[in-house]
Amino acid sequence: MIIIGACCRGGGVGFEGGIPWKNKPDLRHFRKTTMGKTVLVGRKTYEKMPPLKGRDVVVLSKTNGAQLDDYADQDVMLIGGPVVWRHALEKGYVDRIILTYINLTTVCDAFFPMSFLEHFDIEKVENLGEITCVITYKRKMN
Ligand SMILES: NC(=O)c1ccc[n+]([C@@H]2O[C@H](COP(=O)([O-])OP(=O)(O)OC[C@H]3O[C@@H](n4cnc5c(N)ncnc54)[C@H](OP(=O)(O)O)[C@@H]3O)[C@@H](O)[C@H]2O)c1
Repeated sequence: MIIIGACCRGGGVGFEGGIPWKNKPDLRHFRKTTMGKTVLVGRKTYEKMPPLKGRDVVVLSKTNGAQLDDYADQDVMLIGGPVVWRHALEKGYVDRIILTYINLTTVCDAFFPMSFLEHFDIEKVENLGEITCVITYKRKMN
């Protein structure tokens, strides 16, 4: 399983159910990286996001949707939010994390679970523009 997400300074990823910035380089990168793939999304994120054409979208819900545990060993991308990212990281399902860092200071009430990065090594760093950088992390071998 691969996590993909974007955070601003301080690790914020969302505010009041949405994403509090518009960043075209990251949107292009997200589209390219997820195109043709199966993407898993938490129910709360799904309710506020635009449709994702060209991707097979699976909505995760404990009460009325797919269960994250059923995708443990599958070749899927987990696009958030923090509640489902954290669950997958705690369970050890995640092989790679593709995280965009956006150099903006923005008020957020949802955050990427950064503490889990200590279990990952940096594999690749890619600059997408003046304020946008993507780091790909690979899980450390134990
Ligand atoms: N910047 C980014 O890259 C990015 C990406 C994604 C989201 N976000 C932001 O993150 C915020 C929302 O995130 P969130 O953490 O509050 O919610 P979320 O992760 O999107 O959704 C949480 C919901 O997922 C379901 N769920 C939780 N654990 C599950 C499991 N083990 N199996 C199946 N379903 C499970 C539950 O749905 P039920 O209540 O229906 O049971 C839960 O309420 C928004 O602000 C959004 O914009 C940012």
